[in-house]
Amino acid sequence: MKTKNIVVFASGTGSNFKALHQAALKREIPARITALISDNPDAGALRYAREHGIREHIVSPTDYEDSTGYVQKLREILGSESPDLIVLAGYLKKIPNEIVDLYKRRIINIHPALLPKYGGKGWYGMRVHRAVIENGDQESGCTVHYVTRVYDEGPVIAQVKVPVRKDDTAETLAARVLKQEHLLYPKVVRFLLSHS
Ligand code: GRF
Repeated sequence: MKTKNIVVFASGTGSNFKALHQAALKREIPARITALISDNPDAGALRYAREHGIREHIVSPTDYEDSTGYVQKLREILGSESPDLIVLAGYLKKIPNEIVDLYKRRIINIHPALLPKYGGKGWYGMRVHRAVIENGDQESGCTVHYVTRVYDEGPVIAQVKVPVRKDDTAETLAARVLKQEHLLYPKVVRFLLSHS
């Protein structure tokens, strides 16, 4: 199978980015991660990219007066990287509609809940896990979905459930979900790249 190109977007720690990169190194996914795009110069993900010789692009919508410049920059970067798949891994900015349209069905995201529950603008990170616990849900999990113009509303590709235990805190639940994310994301990427 031909090796394909992946570009990852990440704003934070980058543990999913790392899991994907490790899977690619082990040839568990038929791809190489050519670049990381981040809006956050302090992102752990950027550190990891530097340590592993993955090209980095720091680009944030806040650096541009309007969305045109930002979109143009993203188009340039993605045009030069030629990704077969764009993987959002904890990327906190919205992907502009123009980019979503240009890479239709080639952008995926992972969300730390069972979408459509706890999805949409403002639902990210510990807020999600706190709400799951406050609502007394008995299960949570993670979802991989296609990215469309609306936050967290694209078609679901795969979900994994985890139990919510009585003594869980948002932190213990987050850790249980994240562990599953690291297993699920490489599997989904492998599946998609093997069927494209
Ligand atoms: C994950 O929980 C993911 O579901 C969400 O952002 C978090 C990123 O974590 N979209 P990390 O930076 O990959 O550790």
